[in-house]
Amino acid sequence: MLIDGHGRKVSYLRVSVTERCNFRCQYCMPEKPFSWVPKENLLSFEDLFLFIKVAIDEGITKIRITGGEPLLRTDLDAFIMMINKHKSGLDLALTSNGYLLKEAAQKLKDAGLKRVNISLDSLKPNVAMQMAQKDVLPKVMAGIDEALRVGLKVKINMVPIKGINADEILDVLEYAKARGMSIRFIEYMENKFAKEKLQGLSAHEVQAIVAKKYHFKEIGREGSSPAQLFEFDDGYRFGIIDPHKHDFCEDCNRIRLTAEGMLIPCLYFDEAMSIKEAVQNGDVIGASEILKEVLRNKPEKNKWTEDDANETSNRAFYETGG
Ligand code: 5AD
Ligand code: SF4
Repeated sequence: MLIDGHGRKVSYLRVSVTERCNFRCQYCMPEKPFSWVPKENLLSFEDLFLFIKVAIDEGITKIRITGGEPLLRTDLDAFIMMINKHKSGLDLALTSNGYLLKEAAQKLKDAGLKRVNISLDSLKPNVAMQMAQKDVLPKVMAGIDEALRVGLKVKINMVPIKGINADEILDVLEYAKARGMSIRFIEYMENKFAKEKLQGLSAHEVQAIVAKKYHFKEIGREGSSPAQLFEFDDGYRFGIIDPHKHDFCEDCNRIRLTAEGMLIPCLYFDEAMSIKEAVQNGDVIGASEILKEVLRNKPEKNKWTEDDANETSNRAFYETGG
């Protein structure tokens, strides 16, 4: 079992396999980063897997593959199969923008993937295009349908932005509900890579919009998930993630690994350490020591909340996959 310096049990590893993305979401990376990390700096799947094996053997039970857009890396299904073969029964999940999912879904499912979270910010082609700065909606919807067809559990993520997609909260919720998918509304997190002057909806504003049409009760958070859950009278649940709060830090169970091998204990990079040398030397003991050192230094709460409310973060979402 992995325990951090504040007594929290850590069982959840998020692995970003690339920072690259085929979308340019306004709230994430509206411009292509000045320079991508050169491909040769990325860890191979074999190297990432060496660390993942260590992490699983030490007590990680849930792994989420993120990006950028993870499906931009070829043979992602083979990587998932490696992990699944090392230990079955893991909670294996993927976060994707859905664009390449139609072609990939069956292979991912066969490889052992259980769940996928897909970003869907609008049901209107032109609004989706404005948000992602590319005509993405038809392919994303086809990806969602295929993921459901092959039996993956699908969760929808929506980031409501004033003046862009905030008027579609109910429509996207109903789209998800009709297909048996849960939905998480994520409050926009200010960051210096995003387009200027974007204004996200607060958790309260989202709740008020849903309350105009539906009656629901607040359930609270489930386990270590940062989402606040709400339940309709018919049992359907939706969630809201408010990263400006930090009540979820108390039982935070997660750490993050970037595509270059930085092991990050919290949203910010401050206490991160690289596993690159260890895994490239096949040094299992070294990798395990780095894991424990990073856990010892895991901060008590995310620094967002200590920041001035107007201060924006230097953290790039496309490096750590949210
Ligand atoms: N604020 C809130 N959510 C964001 N995401 C990406 N950037 C931001 C941001 N600045 C979301 C994406 C995706 C998830 C991984 O993170 O919509 O669904
Ligand atoms: Fe790509 Fe996701 Fe960032 Fe959009 S939010 S640009 S899909 S990484």
